[in-house]
Amino acid sequence: MSSFMNNLANNRLAMGTLNFFAELAKKRIPYVDDNPFLKGPFAPVAESVHHDFNVIGTIPRQLDGLFLRMGPNPLEVKNPTLYNWFIGDGMVHGLRLKDGQALWCKSRYVGTHQVHDKLKRPRIEGNPRGVADITNTNIIGHAGKIWTIVEAGPLPVEMDAELNSVRYRLFNDDEKFAFSAHPHKDHETGELHAICYDALVMNQIHYHVIDQNGKLKNRVSIPVQHGPMMHDCNMTASKMVIFDLPITFSISNIMRGADFPYQWNEKHQARIGLLPKNGNAEDIRWFKVDPCFIFHSCNAYDLENGDVILDAAVHDETFKNTIQGPSDGQVVRFERWHLQYATGEIKRTVISATPQEFPRFDERLAGKPYRYAYTITLGEEGIPGNPTDIQANYLLKHDLESNETTQHFYGEGYVTGEVIFIPNSDAHGEDEGWLISYVHSIDCKNSKVVILNAKDITQEPVAIIELPTHIPLGFHSNWVNQADLDVK
Ligand SMILES: [Fe+2]
Repeated sequence: MSSFMNNLANNRLAMGTLNFFAELAKKRIPYVDDNPFLKGPFAPVAESVHHDFNVIGTIPRQLDGLFLRMGPNPLEVKNPTLYNWFIGDGMVHGLRLKDGQALWCKSRYVGTHQVHDKLKRPRIEGNPRGVADITNTNIIGHAGKIWTIVEAGPLPVEMDAELNSVRYRLFNDDEKFAFSAHPHKDHETGELHAICYDALVMNQIHYHVIDQNGKLKNRVSIPVQHGPMMHDCNMTASKMVIFDLPITFSISNIMRGADFPYQWNEKHQARIGLLPKNGNAEDIRWFKVDPCFIFHSCNAYDLENGDVILDAAVHDETFKNTIQGPSDGQVVRFERWHLQYATGEIKRTVISATPQEFPRFDERLAGKPYRYAYTITLGEEGIPGNPTDIQANYLLKHDLESNETTQHFYGEGYVTGEVIFIPNSDAHGEDEGWLISYVHSIDCKNSKVVILNAKDITQEPVAIIELPTHIPLGFHSNWVNQADLDVK
């Protein structure tokens, strides 16, 4: 029985639903001892600590902090056929930079009870909530601390500056609410804004605001149908942008034995909601859209007439034919959506038709007009790192004013994960800073952290820090300034 089923068994209402749908359990998934998300650049690793690195180039001295990357790294996989990339135990990879030097690189599990019990380590403070004790998607700095975060129910797990897990908590608040893997920070107020859901609650999602001190400031309930998976959201200066799209909770998927309870649902009306940040559910304006899915959006902003611009990586469809991850031959485009109040329509423009994902930008401009977006290209099957499509793995810099795109190739045999922008504190321009990412060798022998000058990504890297260890391809990265942490 999967961990999801174990947790579900504790929920009487859900078990009633489960029994009702038991008839669907007629066709189980055949066992195949193979899964692309468990091998090659995705292969899990043991925890490690390294010092003393070969550095090519010069690490900018302004970078004093932690470059963090979160991803799935399962401790145990009972059936590779049924393993989904989204449900592996979380592991954090961190590189400490200071005074132009790389001091250490660590790979550490997120210390959930599930992980620490298996590793025979003492449990951390607090308790998990939700459907599964897994936190594997993102890691951010907020209110002086480091937080690992995930959608669908679990509480964040706090980590210290040495990447030791400390406790479960909704930031510095004692409420036990679900959160999100993709909060959006308003850099003027320091608040986190997020659309959150619990996998066991099919008819309701929540808008949560966490203030600059880590306290829950606002909570708005929003009715929905079918238990939609909402991986990301976005925000403008005045509104939240809600992605109610057709991947929904799937009892039949569970009954087939899959660990991942979500599937493409053609019966679910795809729509985008605009919620005034000071409003309630009845204030939402919904815009219907053709079936598609957004895992990750870039930025959004208000126009003077109240319309909204949203930029996002848009998948035609996904999770239709596979239960192991988003690998079913998807079409992904980088698009600009204009949500028009007057017509109630969304005008879609393709910024780039090259398959690409993980859009990032200068996040000081979150919710405001901006010029530069950064994405990474995908292989034909929609997975960065598919060895047969390795040539396709580039960083793209989109100039959204001139419509020009430049690119950076990370070298034969290497693939990059998500690339993030770190602003140069000595400068003010939108692309004055660095683009940093973990870059993985596809033969799993080593990895490197590559730092580019964001102004011109066609140049050779500013610095390459060679790491003597494999770091699996994973999910999201962020930079945390040491000065922003409570404990220096
Ligand atoms: Fe994500």
